[in-house]
Amino acid sequence: MIVALNNKCNLKKDEYLEYINQLDSISSSSQLIICPTFLNVGMKEVHNVKLGAQNVSAKEQGAHTGEVSSDQLKSYGVQYTIVGHSERRESQKETNAEVHEKLVRLFEQDITPILCIGESLEERQANQVEKVLEEELTTAIEGLTEEQKERLIIAYEPIWAIGTGVIPTNEEIRDVFLFIKKYLPTSKILYGGSANDENIDTLKEIKEIDGYLLGGLSLKIEKLKVFLSKCE
Ligand code: PGA
Repeated sequence: MIVALNNKCNLKKDEYLEYINQLDSISSSSQLIICPTFLNVGMKEVHNVKLGAQNVSAKEQGAHTGEVSSDQLKSYGVQYTIVGHSERRESQKETNAEVHEKLVRLFEQDITPILCIGESLEERQANQVEKVLEEELTTAIEGLTEEQKERLIIAYEPIWAIGTGVIPTNEEIRDVFLFIKKYLPTSKILYGGSANDENIDTLKEIKEIDGYLLGGLSLKIEKLKVFLSKCE
């Protein structure tokens, strides 16, 4: 399993140092990827945990105040980067076209993107799940090589499940995963949205799931340990 830890905008410097020391003590057969806030990227290496970031600039290095470019991430040892998280699509008005540019920038630096896609509750209720996911996917992957598509990791994160404690049924998740596989048959697909140490018992029945993108749980080390032990 791939388990990506999305710290979001949490953990001050000292808190992060303590956090990664605790993370260091976890032994798991899953591939852990830590995605801290930019300031904490490269702070300290964690044994057996790959380094990720939560975002990247769609532009190359240059006069772009406040941006972080893919070659800068690379120089800090970043191997994975979350792209198109719904929180950014919503609050930063990130478009599918920008998401595509970000994927291109990451592949230029040999960094593996974790592309987030997912529908809102209104879209699900209006039976528009496939339409939304198709738009997000096709624009993002347009022009990528077969090799890049294979390497790309998808995180299916229904917006209504993020941070709410509510998750889709196994059937709903499986339907979406099979839909994604029509476009990307060999990509790894993660589930994200309120995955925790309790609902993992149900989620792990879905054999199509290659891993998880964890937000809230990434900050709760003891519960994360339980989650990881149940993943095995
Ligand atoms: P959550 O967040 O696990 O807290 O729901 C997941 C995410 O937003 O990546």
